[in-house]
Amino acid sequence: MSDDEAARLAHAAFAERFGGPPEGVWAAPGRVNVIGEHTDYNDGYVLPVALPHTTRAAVGRRTDGRLALASLQGDGALVELGLADLAPGRPDGWAGYPAGVVDGLRERLAGGVSVLVDSDVPVGAGLSSSAALTCSVALALRDLVAPELTRDDLVELARRSENDFVGAPTGILDQSASLLCTAGAALFLDTRERRTEQVPLDLAAAGLELLVVDTRTSHTHADGGYGDRRRECEEAAARLGVPALRDIPDVAGLAALDDAVLLRRARHIVTENARVLEVVRILRSSADPREIGPLLIAGHVSLRDDFQISTVELDACVDAAVEAGAHGARMVGGGFGGSAVVLVDRDRAGAVADAVRERFAQEGYTPPRTFDVVPSAGARRIA
Ligand code: GLA
Repeated sequence: MSDDEAARLAHAAFAERFGGPPEGVWAAPGRVNVIGEHTDYNDGYVLPVALPHTTRAAVGRRTDGRLALASLQGDGALVELGLADLAPGRPDGWAGYPAGVVDGLRERLAGGVSVLVDSDVPVGAGLSSSAALTCSVALALRDLVAPELTRDDLVELARRSENDFVGAPTGILDQSASLLCTAGAALFLDTRERRTEQVPLDLAAAGLELLVVDTRTSHTHADGGYGDRRRECEEAAARLGVPALRDIPDVAGLAALDDAVLLRRARHIVTENARVLEVVRILRSSADPREIGPLLIAGHVSLRDDFQISTVELDACVDAAVEAGAHGARMVGGGFGGSAVVLVDRDRAGAVADAVRERFAQEGYTPPRTFDVVPSAGARRIA
């Protein structure tokens, strides 16, 4: 769907729901991470691209001091409460994400605000539908009431909504991707220094496709597994006497870790940071982008064996894709379900997707959903 069409739909839906037009419509994308998984809360490196799929927020200020939230997805129920009643967990569910952003700018929004959201970012697929939601609202509120905020400030505003309001202990990968990515490029982000570089990624010119395979198996950030990994990484860093695992340059630096589980977790982070740097080096050079394929596969193996957050469906997807001729494949996102990415020659993409579907059918898994990703634009005002 074009931005214009998406804006028209959200505008009309807002007017119908709230009895008058919004002040504008904003869109923010989901993301898929090329490489650099779970490195963000270890002060490390990530390399996401924005999806063409977005969440749109139509927003208008009110005068009654209330927050009203409506979504075209789900049951259509309106969530409404006084701004003074906002608190972590109130409201809960999907509404907690935008409410947390509003809460972060509460003193600027004394009159209240109405928000209608519409989205085509797959939910629960590890593609950051929650960041698309928080970032579309954050950009809207910046434009309406807080023009001095930079996009980096909005990353923090959206992250705080997830961490402190919703209670999901994420890093800044998803929010940074949604707000800072540009079309035709992957975003190389050093999460400690907050340094970014747009790394051109024209896969079509190289005859390649980046295929997303959504296994449609469950995934939720607030779940215990993600928080456990985060605590394990922090414990490993503490035992090694460094501020974060980012400070360990190579696996030799892990020799002092005598706990087998912590060693595995830390080894994933240390090797994953090195893989991000190597992928960026390849993409910056004139080398064939196919050369990143083995690094993607190594990243998957590390998430499967050392970080232990893959699933049988994700492993089957990677195996079947590589067997069918993909150059690389790996699970993406927080883990325990969700999606994988597959780097494949354009003329093999159909056959590789078929091979994955066949493997899933053989194993009795839920049929996956596949689509091709073109690195797309970050959050923007669309009306
Ligand atoms: C989730 C989190 C991110 C990041 C990834 C794993 O998407 O929201 O902050 O930690 O998992 O790379």
